[in-house]
Amino acid sequence: MKIGMLGAGAVAQALARHAIRHGHEVVLSNSRGPASLAPLVKDLGTLAAAAPPAEAATADLVVLAVRWPQIPDAVAGLPSLDKTVVIDATNQFASLPPNPKIADLGDLTGSEYVASLLPGARVVKAFNALHAQFIAPDPRHEAGRQVLFLAGDDADAKNTVRDLTSEFGFAPVDLGTLREGGRLIQLGGPLSALHALKQD
Ligand SMILES: NC(=O)c1ccc[n+]([C@@H]2O[C@H](COP(=O)([O-])OP(=O)(O)OC[C@H]3O[C@@H](n4cnc5c(N)ncnc54)[C@H](OP(=O)(O)O)[C@@H]3O)[C@@H](O)[C@H]2O)c1
Repeated sequence: MKIGMLGAGAVAQALARHAIRHGHEVVLSNSRGPASLAPLVKDLGTLAAAAPPAEAATADLVVLAVRWPQIPDAVAGLPSLDKTVVIDATNQFASLPPNPKIADLGDLTGSEYVASLLPGARVVKAFNALHAQFIAPDPRHEAGRQVLFLAGDDADAKNTVRDLTSEFGFAPVDLGTLREGGRLIQLGGPLSALHALKQD
């Protein structure tokens, strides 16, 4: 699979390393242009590349891993993502700790808001509830596999994300729709930042 990353920071890099370890191609992008990612691409090896966001978004599966206020810029000018599976790893921090502020989205969950910006995309919320230091390492621990909560409105898209993340070694747990499940794992939800291991 070719996986396009919108963002090239802590979360995108952690997922890129898992993907590459399992033989997938990764295209990273940021706002500063592919040249700024050359050292990272070199470090990641031959399965990695850098491109503008619009090119990364043409991959088989796309990961949105930018900070909340950067989302409108990151998705502006993308080609149609109709039917594309998009993993939304974002958290709706209007401002980050030490002065955290959660964006006020009214009735919408964070991923419903993201989905509204990506018409036709099959959005699956995942990875947002795990701190990056628990995403990056091998998720297979002696006591069990790192639980990965996910939510989405499209069953096939969730199957795709479940299969991919199981391959990485996570233990995906489907919590339902972007509204119901998304509310549980987004900032302020009871499963946000809950780190758990699942025994096989
Ligand atoms: N860190 C965690 O522990 C963690 C865990 C789970 C989820 N999350 C969530 O995941 C998201 C990413 O977090 P992170 O920690 O990976 O952030 P980060 O390290 O700050 O990385 C953000 C990336 O987005 C890029 N970016 C900025 N504007 C962009 C644009 N317009 N188009 C494309 N890329 C752009 C940045 O690169 P340039 O500035 O060079 O453009 C940078 O590579 C956030 O929503 C965060 O809340 C974070």
